[in-house]
Amino acid sequence: MRPFKHLIYGGLLAAAISPVMADDGEKIYKQGGAQPGALACMTCHMPDGRGMDAGGFPKIAGDSAVYLAKQIHDFKNSSRENPIMLPIASALTDAEITAVTRYMASLPKFEVPEITRAKTPEGLGETIAIRGDWSRSIPECVACHGPGGVGVGDTFPPLAGQGSKYLASQLRAWQQGTRKNDQDDLMGHIARSLTEEEIIAVADYFAGLGK
Ligand code: HEC
Ligand code: HEC
Repeated sequence: MRPFKHLIYGGLLAAAISPVMADDGEKIYKQGGAQPGALACMTCHMPDGRGMDAGGFPKIAGDSAVYLAKQIHDFKNSSRENPIMLPIASALTDAEITAVTRYMASLPKFEVPEITRAKTPEGLGETIAIRGDWSRSIPECVACHGPGGVGVGDTFPPLAGQGSKYLASQLRAWQQGTRKNDQDDLMGHIARSLTEEEIIAVADYFAGLGK
């Protein structure tokens, strides 16, 4: 299938430098990559990219392509350990990773309500999110993840609208050391300082914000 496709594209695009075209991102997302282990992403991340929290499948719609690509490389090198994504990530070439993450980033993202830090926080989740607990060196999450957890640039992923089960699982992964792909252990330090009650509260809070 690949050489045949190559011929068609090759004929159309004389300047083609890579065997994976930008348009292939959608195809990889919906049908999988060239290697058999590269399963179709939409089976778990859903056709609209909004994931399925009950299964632990995160939303990826509208996230930064650079952030998403970093995660796939991190699954590959196991600085982020996950038995489901390891074989899938390992079966994707660099060009496929670039193409599929661009497609994911192009899917419509969630609207996040404007929440300023001037607001008086209600409840434990919102208190951790917009105030933190400086007596235990826990910075407010919005300091890096942006107002309402909307996400900032290519480095700080959105928390708003992400599944609550998934968010909590990532904080526990940092506590247990199975996710250690963040620079300078920023998130590791924060996650290890949170209690289980705080993890659930803050995960529920951000999950409830995006629509
Ligand atoms: C069988 C289900 C399944 C399929 C198919 C699947 N994923 Fe995933 N994906 C997951 C799970 C589960 C996680 C969360 C892993 C964790 O808890 O660390 C995940 C996480 C991710 C993340 C990290 C998101 C974030 O916010 O950090 C990226 C990026 C990703 N997958 C890309 C892909 C791509 C690209 C494909 C298709 C080539 C794909 N996935 C196919 C189950 C799947
Ligand atoms: C000093 C900056 C900083 C602060 C403050 C911060 N984070 Fe993060 N967070 C990051 C970075 C950077 C990443 C992405 C790491 C990577 O590359 O995988 C991240 C990722 C995450 C993720 C994973 C998201 C995903 O899609 O997989 C969760 C969950 C998270 N942070 C929760 C929190 C919570 C809850 C707080 C507040 C208690 C918080 N963060 C405060 C920097 C920060």
